[in-house]
Amino acid sequence: MHQLIPAPVRAETTDRSAFLLDGATTLTARAGTESTGRWLRTTLGAAFGLPLVPGGEGTGNTVDLRIDPAREPEGYRLTVTPGGGVEISGGSAAGVFWGAQTLRQLLGPEAFRRAPVGPAGPRAVPLLDIEDGPRFGWRGLMLDVARHFMPTDDVLRYLDLMAAHKLNVFHFHLTDDQGWRIEIKRHPRLTETGAWRARTRYGHRASDLWDETPHGGYYTQDDIREIVAYAAERHIRVVPEIDIPGHSQAAISAYPELGNTDVIDTSALSVWDTWGVNPNVLAPTDNTLRFFEGVFEEILDLFPADTSPFIHIGGDECLKDQWKQSPAAQARMAGLGLTGEDELQSWFIRHFDGWLTARGRRLIGWDEILEGGLAEGAAVSSWRGYAGGIAAAEAGHDVVMCPEQQVYLDHRQDGGPDEPMPIGYVRTLEDVYRFEPVPPGLSEEAAAHILGTQANVWTEVMQNRARVDYQVFPRLAAFAEVAWSPLPAPAERDFAAFERRMAAHYARLDALGVGYRPPGGPLPWQRRPGVLGRPIEGPPPHV
Ligand code: ACM
Repeated sequence: MHQLIPAPVRAETTDRSAFLLDGATTLTARAGTESTGRWLRTTLGAAFGLPLVPGGEGTGNTVDLRIDPAREPEGYRLTVTPGGGVEISGGSAAGVFWGAQTLRQLLGPEAFRRAPVGPAGPRAVPLLDIEDGPRFGWRGLMLDVARHFMPTDDVLRYLDLMAAHKLNVFHFHLTDDQGWRIEIKRHPRLTETGAWRARTRYGHRASDLWDETPHGGYYTQDDIREIVAYAAERHIRVVPEIDIPGHSQAAISAYPELGNTDVIDTSALSVWDTWGVNPNVLAPTDNTLRFFEGVFEEILDLFPADTSPFIHIGGDECLKDQWKQSPAAQARMAGLGLTGEDELQSWFIRHFDGWLTARGRRLIGWDEILEGGLAEGAAVSSWRGYAGGIAAAEAGHDVVMCPEQQVYLDHRQDGGPDEPMPIGYVRTLEDVYRFEPVPPGLSEEAAAHILGTQANVWTEVMQNRARVDYQVFPRLAAFAEVAWSPLPAPAERDFAAFERRMAAHYARLDALGVGYRPPGGPLPWQRRPGVLGRPIEGPPPHV
């Protein structure tokens, strides 16, 4: 219906004619909807030169925004009538905003441009009645800005792209072995040293190509405040991730005392320039705990509780070799009465769980935080398949389903030879469309702990925005529909109908300047012949 993506819950065309938005159309943004009013004026004002001046109630030539608390918080109703114009009522300010996104889609691809491309004149909106709301409250996208830095402007653009797809959680992967990307005032070397690397492996880890251009960058605290405010205006929650105790070589290169100094000479480490799982993990010392409490104090300041209730502490792929070899780590384990290194990892995570909980936030981590005992109140990003999420949900923990076999958008989109730097399993647009976040067989009680789902984008082989666009689109459109719309079971989903709607959606993406993978395969400049990836053959296991 009307080529909307994600598909609305219910939409009816009430008449074949249309309501015309024109220079005289006014906009009434009632209490609580002011930011959506601002967004509509800015967006449609730019695209069509429509002034949408305030006021005009009762004239019938108006866009009327209101909150109706009887609706679900993110739900909305959008009606277009000849006598009443456009009315959007949402269960909250967020619902009104998602309704405004639907209105933009109804206005055609030109509504996605930033200046008029045709003659000035009225814009037709079909007469209809839409009743809509999301399946999940957590509809996320994770961007890894650590492996390759994404400038603030590109991050803001991704927030706009998320909003256009009614996605509402931005998981911001800010630190990793290859770079520390957020200014921390009390530990300035994290960015002075940790945000830069001398060179970068070009392609996946088996590649023998190097880009000798130094790479790096970081967000100042004002950049972060801008990103957080921009997201909030679009009803997107931000989940900042500081990845500990693994994935920490950039931090250790800046402050060598954070590493296992009794195992290796950590002062010889630099920001990592290649890919893989890194053995240089944090030392389980009081100094490390105090250092990261300081980091998280600044994080809590920058990411306020109302828009960032969750703080992600990583917890993935922490190799235990150095802890096994380190007399200091072993002494720590003995002192704590711990019987294995997995328990030491748990102790680390539990420390920050308690610390965050005491400050009114919730910890979320990758599913490895289940190993050795899950911290109370912690939520899990289930990435190694469904299993971690199922175990966590059955144990009463909240879960975000983001299994790598299904929704890691760094994985290749096609099995052909032209995919650039192909990684992982073949995950086509149709595969993503048939992804089901709630695994079958889960008890009703456990299923209620599935907060939602998230697509993750790791950028080892995505050097810039064009590479990210190529991997993310068009699959994010299918993902958005999975997260928002009430789809039937995977095998019964009407992919052909989705593809027909995609025809209109590609025109929107074109207007937005998104460098998606065309249905026919990569264009010549999107290929990277001769640069090694790491494809995995065969279908993904159903785990
Ligand atoms: C992950 O992909 N290491 C969370």
